Order: sequence, then structure tokens, then C-alpha cells
Amino acid sequence: MSQEHRTRVAIIGAGPAGLLLSHRLAEAGIASIVLDRRSRDEIEQTIRAGILEHGTVDILREIGGSRVESVGQRHDGVELRFEGVGHRIDLRGLTGRSVWLYPQHEVLRDLVGARLAAGQDLRFGATVERIDGVESDEPRIVATDAEGQRFEVAAEFVVGADGSRGITRATVAGSSREGYFREYPFAWFGILCEAPPSAEELIYSSSDDGFALVSRRSDTVQRMYFQCDPDVDPGSLSEAQIWDELQRRVPGTDLVEGPIFQRDVLRFRSFVAGRLLRGRAALVGDAAHTVPPTGAKGLNLAVADVLVLERALRALLLERDERPMLAYPQVASERIWKAQHFSWWMTSMLHVAPDATAFDRRRQIGELSSLVDSEAGRMFLAEGYTGW
Ligand code: DHB
Repeated sequence: MSQEHRTRVAIIGAGPAGLLLSHRLAEAGIASIVLDRRSRDEIEQTIRAGILEHGTVDILREIGGSRVESVGQRHDGVELRFEGVGHRIDLRGLTGRSVWLYPQHEVLRDLVGARLAAGQDLRFGATVERIDGVESDEPRIVATDAEGQRFEVAAEFVVGADGSRGITRATVAGSSREGYFREYPFAWFGILCEAPPSAEELIYSSSDDGFALVSRRSDTVQRMYFQCDPDVDPGSLSEAQIWDELQRRVPGTDLVEGPIFQRDVLRFRSFVAGRLLRGRAALVGDAAHTVPPTGAKGLNLAVADVLVLERALRALLLERDERPMLAYPQVASERIWKAQHFSWWMTSMLHVAPDATAFDRRRQIGELSSLVDSEAGRMFLAEGYTGW
């Protein structure tokens, strides 16, 4: 016999989207159960991007115990670098808004801590096998816990916040590939190194040899990326080769080198699921869409989805008003496609495709020059970067 649990909202996935949603639902008096197949350690150690939009920070500030202000760093500008020259985009001067450097694993530690302190039913190591009855009023999740014990969760609504490889995308959209997508012929080679910062603000550098991003983590740890072949084995380059690639792609600056203690290859993909809502199940965050990493929109977009879905769930479950839920796909899509465009645009403008001709490269420099030489151009970038 499997154990049965009952709740109002069953949330699959304890990433930023699932945890934030459970937090906001609890504030509205709506109980939820959050399931994730990963362990707490795995979740809190996932290395992801580090830039939070202005609006994301406002939302995180409302969570008790969040360290976004004490540990995060406010960045008022970013640098675009090409032809060996840096051009500062004054985010704050242009839009009145800044971004914050606060890595995703820190956001997750804050959220997991806050949810557990509030008594959230949060189950790690729980693998969802099936989601039944999403077209009925009582969808049901069949899962196994960390000990292999079967259990079921009956809910009024199921939320898929289980990322791009989760089970809910297929349940809601029909198949995990059903939707709009685009592949890219390059990836990022990412490193964490022990070194002081090379620059105060982030540098997005487009060179003839490809793209590089100089980001930071703290006064002693830095995060950097450079464009690479998607099939490269992260272990195949020596530290000297990695530094050589990075230095060549950020001409005109001397990056401060130090021991590299973590390396990974991030594949690029743009994807939006063909459906975001089916009956009593909806997708949020990476389960609903994937963006390439340039511009760091992933987490920010997940937070934006959650705000729209939370309002729809409150209307549905507290007022029996289905209309905001029926409108969820359309309302969320507006920002999803803005972020898709922004991420694609930053990516295409800054990277050198393997088959790029001399014309393509010169046109790219023309695009970058038009952008930095025009207040309207800088404003367009600053609005997208800090969040619409
Ligand atoms: C980081 C990642 C990004 O994709 C980006 O655009 C900026 C910063 C980061 O990991 O620090």
C-alpha cells in the first residue's frame, strides 16, 4: 500500500521557481508539498549564473533571512568590449535600476532555509513516476521516496518546476520536445578560480577568437567563461591553455590568473514549451523554457513566471475564479518571448559562429558600435539587462 498525502498545490521541483512559489502560496494561506528527486546538498551546490535583475532582488528581499543584501553585490554597470576597447553601459544612469551579483546557489540556500524554518513539507530524494488526472479536478502524483517507498500526492493543482529534464514538461506539453527551439553551434567553458577580481564590473567581450565573459563571485573567487565547441571535454585543457584562451578573448586587459578549481561546459539552447497549461497542471521556469546563458535571464524569468502563476493560483483556489489561470500562458509568454529575444540577441551579437565570414564579423562590429554609440541602443540593452 502506498501512503497518500493531500495538499492544495503539489509542486514538482525544489529549484528557485518551486521554492519561491511555495513561499508565496504559504503567505496567501495555500498549503503545498514540494518534491525534488535531488538531495538538499545537490540542490544547494548547483553552480549556475550569478546575476539578479532589480525586480528579482525586490522579491527575494521579502523573504525572511535572505542574504541578498549582505552577501550580494550591486552592479550599476557592465562593460561591452570589442576591438580591444571597453564601453561601459551605465545601467543605473540609463534606467535608474541596477543588477545584483548573487549566485543561484546562494538564492537556493536562502529559500530552502526559509521554507524549512516555516515548516514547509519539502521532500528531497523523491522521484515522480507519473502525474495522473491533470484534466480532472484532482490531479495525483505517484512517486517514490529516497528509501524506495511508494507514495501518492492528491492535489487541486500540480506545478511543474522540475527543469528542462523533468517529467512535467512532457505531461503538460505532450512531449519533452514539443515546442519552439533553437540550437547554437557553440557552448561556454566556465571556470571558478582563486584570484582577486580582474575588474569591478562584468565584462562581455567579443573578439575575433570568440566571446568571453569576466564575472565574479567574491574578493577571492572569480567566475569566467569563454566560447568553446559544444563537444569539448572540460578536462581536456590545461590551466595554461584555459588562461591563454581567456586572455586572447579579452584583448586590452590583463586578467588576474589563479588556480582553477572548477570547470564545466554549458550547452546553449533556446526553448519554449508548446503548452504551459493543461487542465490542472502548469509549467514554470526551466520546465517551461530554456534560454542561452548570455545575459543571465534564466533565474529571473523563473521568478517572473512564479509571480504570474501565484496570482492565478490564488484566484483559482481562494476565489474559484479560473480566468487568471486560463490567461497564464498568454500573460507569461509575453515576458518569456522578450527574454528569449534578449538572450538570443546578446548571444548572436557577441559570439563568433564557426561558419562566420569576414562580412559577418564586420557586421557584428557595426552592430556593437551602433549600440554603444547610441543612447537608444544602450538604453535598449540596459532595459533588458535589468529586467523589463
Ligand atoms: C554570469 C552568468 C551569465 O550568463 C551572465 O550573463 C552574467 C554572469 C555568472 O555566472 O556570473
